[in-house]
Amino acid sequence: MKARVWIKLVLAVAVISMSGCEKKGATVKEPEAKPEATPEAKEIRQMSANEESFGKTPDGKQVDLYTLTNTSGIRARITSFGAILVSLDVPDRDGNLADITLGFDKLDGYIGVHPYFGAIVGRYANRIGKAAFKLDGVEYKLAANNDVNHLHGGIKGFDKVVWRLEDLGVKGAGAVVKLSYISEDGEEGYPGNLACSVTYTLTEDDKLQISYEAETDKKTVLNLTNHSYFNLAGQGTGDILGHELMLNADKYTVVDEGLIPTGENRSVKGTPMDFTTPMTIGSRIGQVEGGYDHNYVLNSGGGTLALAAKVYEPTSGRVMEIHTDQPGVQFYTGNFLDGSVTGKAAKVYQKNYGFCLETQHFPDSPNKPDFPTVVLFPGQRYSTVTAYKFSTK
Ligand code: BGC
Repeated sequence: MKARVWIKLVLAVAVISMSGCEKKGATVKEPEAKPEATPEAKEIRQMSANEESFGKTPDGKQVDLYTLTNTSGIRARITSFGAILVSLDVPDRDGNLADITLGFDKLDGYIGVHPYFGAIVGRYANRIGKAAFKLDGVEYKLAANNDVNHLHGGIKGFDKVVWRLEDLGVKGAGAVVKLSYISEDGEEGYPGNLACSVTYTLTEDDKLQISYEAETDKKTVLNLTNHSYFNLAGQGTGDILGHELMLNADKYTVVDEGLIPTGENRSVKGTPMDFTTPMTIGSRIGQVEGGYDHNYVLNSGGGTLALAAKVYEPTSGRVMEIHTDQPGVQFYTGNFLDGSVTGKAAKVYQKNYGFCLETQHFPDSPNKPDFPTVVLFPGQRYSTVTAYKFSTK
């Protein structure tokens, strides 16, 4: 890499991180008390952001774990390995906390093979057909790690690298951790040195917001998402088929047998794909071959923060609303979970034990000129936001 370009990229990361936080490991007591919690939920209920060690990678790199909390007792733990959301404790309608994301207690689990639990996925989340794409007539070949196709950034994607801490602390109404990563030109076959950052902000109004920023020194493609598997009744407690889901999408991208879009965006109307009015995930899943694993075309069209999905779990009363500025969301019902993975608290993850709502650009966009563009140009700033808002009813 040319020295000047490298310095520019490092500067870009520094600029991206300039919206810094006031204190490291800060704890701020909120004057106003929230409603009484039941005795089981006696965890920290104050705004804080802290850091501890999460271990080392096999090649000796230090990995840390950051904990963000707010006064409702919501606690998000994020690791610098893969910028992974390790856990997310959220109160139910009685104030009892439960971890609502699948994953592992220890770093080892994340270092091993797993289906992207909680990870930041990149450079290209979802599939690229035949593991190749062209930019300005030049073909870029990527790893065919999903049959003949490319999935979630390749062999060693953003979920398998150690991110750098840029900021940690309590800032305004949020507890913040900001992580950065520089992906070098040619990494996993993608062109351009890419400086990117991911910021998790836990707000006082019970929102976990993830914002993504990036810059490149060469024309490239980019599609970042978070790949959390949710179970709003609590991770490992059973399947998610009883959750009620609303998706703000009238269409989905039709796929072939390799889950690559054919280019047709089809109406959900009158089909088991329709979640425009709330329906339980399990009500029609049997009519969808293999279960849900589809990209929905959001009605917002992307570009502005808009409601993409709302999920309600009736036994706990937990509600999660997702707002995003992305044009699509992959709704995946953990169809490939099969009991072979033992996760947090020794829970065995069976089929449909978690669902993902991966806000994103459409799969295979680099090869689909009619899809919203995923091309990032030098001098352009990639900047997107997805927010997960929690409440109960
Ligand atoms: C994909 C699934 C895949 C899962 C784990 C999802 O984003 O749509 O097909 O099995 O990720 O890799």
